[in-house]
Amino acid sequence: MVERKERLEEEFELGEEDEAIHEYEALTDGYLHVTASLIADEIAHLAKTHEGVVVDLGCGPGSLVKELALRFPQLLVIGLDISFPMTKLARERTTVENVAFVTADVHHLPFQTRSVQMIVSHGAMHHWRELARALAEVKQVLADKGFVYLSDLKRDTPDELVREIAALLNKNQARAFLNSIKAAYTVEELAALAAAAGLGNLHVEPESFSRRAIARNIEKLRESPLRGMRQAAINLRMVGGAETL
Ligand SMILES: C[S@@+](CC[C@H](N)C(=O)[O-])C[C@H]1O[C@@H](n2cnc3c(N)ncnc32)[C@H](O)[C@@H]1O
Repeated sequence: MVERKERLEEEFELGEEDEAIHEYEALTDGYLHVTASLIADEIAHLAKTHEGVVVDLGCGPGSLVKELALRFPQLLVIGLDISFPMTKLARERTTVENVAFVTADVHHLPFQTRSVQMIVSHGAMHHWRELARALAEVKQVLADKGFVYLSDLKRDTPDELVREIAALLNKNQARAFLNSIKAAYTVEELAALAAAAGLGNLHVEPESFSRRAIARNIEKLRESPLRGMRQAAINLRMVGGAETL
């Protein structure tokens, strides 16, 4: 049985915002673009959304925004991030047409009630000061048949696996990764928070991908230094909505 560890609050873990953004961009180019592509294919497999707006909460350098925009050309994909330099960087990096970026806080989403058809996120929930409040905002702005896919690290990831991944990263990235794991949630905690926010219809589970999503990314996965890192042991997801299969 995995020993229960207390969740530690995590601020922007690398201290200086510029340094954090630089390291996160390097991490994205080195590893996370593969995860973004896999998640986008998984969402394309599950969601039956044909029109409207997608919002990526805590979009960082925008890799998931770009991958979703390519797979859903009929939708507007909005990347939302609290950091202005991060949204600026994401805008510069993303040349796809159907995207927009906004600097805002997930605790105060700048969208009308029930106006967003799809809400997604990757690797960001553990940063949010008050996840219960952010999930209440998600519930508020999500359209009636909206789809949700929120993916993040899992705090009860086995230590051995955490060490194995940290060893692939540079010193700053490794420190940020270790802090992020400590700040992350467990499936049980996230399920309770989802239920309290009125999102109890969503599945909270270890993240795994359909054969189709894996097949589409097999070359990228083979080339990635993180291949074989047992995604389900590292990540969890909150997924579902009226338009899932
Ligand atoms: C670890 S990065 C993940 C970036 C991106 N989703 C990815 O997977 O590459 C977390 C991002 O969440 C953003 N963030 C943290 N707190 C936030 C908040 N309260 N509202 C919006 N964004 C936030 C940070 O600025 C950062 O860009």
